Amino acid sequence: MTTGPKAARRSSHLSRNEPDDAVPLARREILVGVCGGIAAYKTCALASALVQRGAGVTVVMTAAATKFVGPLTFESLTSRRVLLDLWSAESDRDSQHIHVTERADLFIIAPATANSLGKIAHGIADDALTTLVLAAASPVLLAPAMNERMWKNPLVERNVQLLRDAGYLFVDPESGWQACRTRGEGRMAEPQTILETALQMLVPGKATGELPSRANLKRHQPG
Ligand SMILES: Cc1cc2nc3c(=O)[nH]c(=O)nc-3n(C[C@H](O)[C@H](O)[C@H](O)COP(=O)(O)O)c2cc1C
Repeated sequence: MTTGPKAARRSSHLSRNEPDDAVPLARREILVGVCGGIAAYKTCALASALVQRGAGVTVVMTAAATKFVGPLTFESLTSRRVLLDLWSAESDRDSQHIHVTERADLFIIAPATANSLGKIAHGIADDALTTLVLAAASPVLLAPAMNERMWKNPLVERNVQLLRDAGYLFVDPESGWQACRTRGEGRMAEPQTILETALQMLVPGKATGELPSRANLKRHQPG
């Protein structure tokens, strides 16, 4: 194997079609939906990690999400305007809910609240995030986060199953410390785990380097 400055120079001059290990998500477009849960703070790290790996990242937030993290944080991390509602666009109204989904390679919802999971499962599109999810042309990866009793509520379980059956992908929540100051299942997967799942989906066959292999991707392809 050739190493040293020469090889390093060569790897920084890869052709446009050759994936660069440093920016494996170059030329990839990722939509990141943020719902109203305390885990929204973790999504800042996820958005930044995606950007650092070369992806173009557009964030859409629910109104509840903005109570937890300000849109300015995501705008600073992604260098893009955050989508907040369907009515704010002046000149590019169309791009708010059509073009943005057409150019996305992946749509990640993190955290996905019980409320938004339920709305998506039932085809409800009453805000920018749920409208974009229903209009998505890309795979949709959901990272639920909620209190354990909510996560184990039969109604939520039924909605999750409906979504799995419809082909939505999940990074399942983990067990651990929850914001309600108890331990239990429902804590959002770590940003690193979601990142690894995205890399596995978007960069097939590529080793993910320093990333731990604990992604908990539940795939269900519609029959
Ligand atoms: C402090 C606080 C934390 C919350 N955390 C969660 C959560 O982790 N998961 C969840 O499903 N709902 C959580 N909720 C409730 C949601 O914010 C609420 O259901 C809201 O309507 C979700 O709206 P959205 O799905 O449009 O973002 C929390 C509410 C508060 C006040």
